[in-house]
Amino acid sequence: MFAKDGKIKDVKTPRICDVVWHDGEFIKWTDARVHVMSHVLHYGSSIFEGIRCYNTKQGPAIFRLREHIQRLLNSAKIYRMDHPWTLEQLCDASIELVKRSGMDQCYIRPILFRSLDEEHPAFGVNPFPNPLACYIGAWDWGKYLGDEAIEQGVDVQVSTWNRLTPNSMPAMAKSGANYMNSQLIKMEALLNGFAEGIALDDRGYVSEGSGENIFLVTGDIVLTPPLSSSILPGITRDSVIQICQELGITVKERTIQRAALYVADELFFSGTAAEVTPIRSVDRIPVGAGGRGPITAKIQKAFFEITKGERPAPGNWLTYVNSGKAASADNNGFSTAALEADTAVITVK
Ligand SMILES: Cc1ncc(COP(=O)(O)O)c(C=O)c1O
Repeated sequence: MFAKDGKIKDVKTPRICDVVWHDGEFIKWTDARVHVMSHVLHYGSSIFEGIRCYNTKQGPAIFRLREHIQRLLNSAKIYRMDHPWTLEQLCDASIELVKRSGMDQCYIRPILFRSLDEEHPAFGVNPFPNPLACYIGAWDWGKYLGDEAIEQGVDVQVSTWNRLTPNSMPAMAKSGANYMNSQLIKMEALLNGFAEGIALDDRGYVSEGSGENIFLVTGDIVLTPPLSSSILPGITRDSVIQICQELGITVKERTIQRAALYVADELFFSGTAAEVTPIRSVDRIPVGAGGRGPITAKIQKAFFEITKGERPAPGNWLTYVNSGKAASADNNGFSTAALEADTAVITVK
């Protein structure tokens, strides 16, 4: 029934941090547990973030920490999660976790969810009676779409599953429940022998991958779907947009037809996990010359130099863990794509 390969593939995880931050305290990894009757397990009531911390010459540096925590707070607000945490507190907790982990690079996972009050249990869909719990874990994570993907690119398919509609599940919130849609897209792609699937929105326009935003290069112009195509406002996407602007590459938000994927000169994914990964074929049709294109390579190079602290970023993007303070937002802010008037804007103060 299932292709074995697709089921067993996973991202390399060489190390896991043995402590987890929980509601203001550090606890052992083995103590970070929830009750099986927790609201989140039954009704998907979680919101989370994924943040990379890079190994630089000045020690571990967290990429766009404030922007990620701001998106977490935005997701919490959308889902009416009335928690006590501030941006500063969650940034500080993430920094302290990386310090305690002793890892020079890692992936940081803050999660806020509806749990269970065992003394006053509540089992209905109504989330309000259930207490909130906030945790942050970290692990060392390899290349999300495979080691070779960064240079060679990945083979993808257009998914038969559509992305969420704006008035059903808001793609703008990074909620755990949204990832049931992502799982359908991902499983279908893997079982069909592809590395990833690209979902269309409910109108049939290109939306995003199961865990990545998408960019299309045509001539010397870079295009990406707007927020109105039911995408997550990706922080890597925003970084790519700003990098393009610095490199003098024209970048525009446009609704993109499926067929445009087949005739694009270059395509690539962006995401915290996937970083900047070229796409070399879609539905077995080669993209351009069937490998990483020159504009993708240029953007990718700048991105990796910035994350390694070897090239100045367009903003204050790196939080050096040893300096102990989250990089201040004296940058361009995190605009979730302010290129077009029809898109929402989120800024980090
Ligand atoms: C569905 C989806 N889209 C886009 C992205 C890329 O967002 P970011 O660059 O903020 O990681 C992710 C990853 O978080 C994702 O899960």
